[in-house]
Amino acid sequence: MNILFVGDVVGSQGRDMITEYVPKLKEKYRPHITIINGENAAGGKGITEKIYRGFLEAGAQAVTLGNHTWDNREIFEFIDRAKYMVRPANFPSNNPGKGMVFLKFNTEEVAVISLQGRTFMNTSDCPFQKADELIKEARERTPFIFVDFHAEATSEKQAMGWYLDGKVSAVVGTHTHVQTADNRILPGGTAFMSDVGMTGPYDGILGVEKEAVIKRFLTGLPVRFEVPKEGRTQLSAAFIELSPKTGLAKKIDRILINDDHPFYT
Ligand SMILES: [Fe+2]
Repeated sequence: MNILFVGDVVGSQGRDMITEYVPKLKEKYRPHITIINGENAAGGKGITEKIYRGFLEAGAQAVTLGNHTWDNREIFEFIDRAKYMVRPANFPSNNPGKGMVFLKFNTEEVAVISLQGRTFMNTSDCPFQKADELIKEARERTPFIFVDFHAEATSEKQAMGWYLDGKVSAVVGTHTHVQTADNRILPGGTAFMSDVGMTGPYDGILGVEKEAVIKRFLTGLPVRFEVPKEGRTQLSAAFIELSPKTGLAKKIDRILINDDHPFYT
């Protein structure tokens, strides 16, 4: 079982990268399951139903979210009918949507879990306890369990990786928008990477127009952050190979596509 995971899609440039490169990546890597983090896909904040459907049409089987889940109000209208949308499972239990979905591939299933960190982020329930709870449920159905841990602190992400080592197929981080080079297989067999990185503007700051961010640092004054609509772009992803017998990882590769790292077929 092989999984392609694309990191935080930001704005229209990110969406264009999905349309252009997901089919190419699928041809190159031949994943059985493709997952996209789409929490910044609608102008940097949240996601719309049209974008969600566009990701499925581009070849994804599931879309994960994060701290921007509720930023686009349209989400409340469609999240409950979006079968393959996964928002952080450790949000309050009365929130709409779900934190784990099961994807089918032939006779197998893959559980996709989204969790959000608590360090330097809005309050949520304990992601570690929620992980225990969901993994117990998932393991009754499948050994293939993928965790998108949407968190700010590298330490918290590493802690989650080690905590779940041997219990899940992969723990990959999202949210910080810069791809880390620490992709590895932990000793228990779980694929880990602190952050997969973002998909969208290449010449901004974490996907936002750089001038506004610099102005904020220079002046400390409130500044309106905008997501660039044109300019150079990038795509960040990870490709994970799992043992068909155990569900544990055999390999995790980084994928980065931009002008400095061109795509080769
Ligand atoms: Fe985020």
